[in-house]
Amino acid sequence: MQILKFEHLDSTNNHAKTLIKEGKAKNGQIIYAVAQSEGRGQASNTWESEPGKNLTFSLIIQPNHIEPKDQFLISQAVSVGIWNYLKSAMGNESIHIKWPNDIYVNLKKIAGILIEHHIQNNQILFSVIGIGLNVNQTKFSEKAGTPTSLSLITTMQYNVETELDTLATSIVNALDSLQINNGKDCQSQYLKHLLFLNEEREYTVNTKKITGKIIGVNPFGQLQIQDKNGAILEFGFKEIGYIL
Ligand code: BTN
Repeated sequence: MQILKFEHLDSTNNHAKTLIKEGKAKNGQIIYAVAQSEGRGQASNTWESEPGKNLTFSLIIQPNHIEPKDQFLISQAVSVGIWNYLKSAMGNESIHIKWPNDIYVNLKKIAGILIEHHIQNNQILFSVIGIGLNVNQTKFSEKAGTPTSLSLITTMQYNVETELDTLATSIVNALDSLQINNGKDCQSQYLKHLLFLNEEREYTVNTKKITGKIIGVNPFGQLQIQDKNGAILEFGFKEIGYIL
């Protein structure tokens, strides 16, 4: 792991992608910004983070053992790595992975993941794994949804760079575990920590409500829900909404 620290960047994912374009990117490099002015989230959302208080970084990997069709494995491993880190940091809280890859503590979002793959000739040359983890921030803007942070949960103050080392190590370990058993162990960890797994819940699909149980995720990363009639429905990102 090599950590490149910047006082200010527009987006650590953008910077990582520039390094890739310039041929300067290396497996295991971490781009960490103390302040990020244009943090990007999934589905063109923005990512809010008070300068110096949280972790906003991108890990660059060269996952040459993973085919593009199996890219959701990377998402699963990163989610599991963050879950393991949080479990050590705050064992007694209710920590879950909200499909596809948001991390929630006590039903509030503590971390988000934005992964961007650089694919050529049906090979993943690089993956840029962007992570935002709320650490010491305790006030958030109204448009941030229902966020939480390590400090809000434990009332402790953290050294963000120490947390970066511990978190990045946990993520790299989870990514390494993909090489064992075709990633099956990592997939079962992901499922075990999935929010609302096997619970009968209501979800929104377009403007309608459906009732069903999450039973798994298919190899393409689509969420599988069994409805009241026993039918298995599959949803891509943004095709289904949770009611928390
Ligand atoms: C989401 O939940 O929508 C994903 C948020 C990802 C935010 C991180 S912060 C570091 C990296 N750089 C970015 O521009 N975005 C990711």
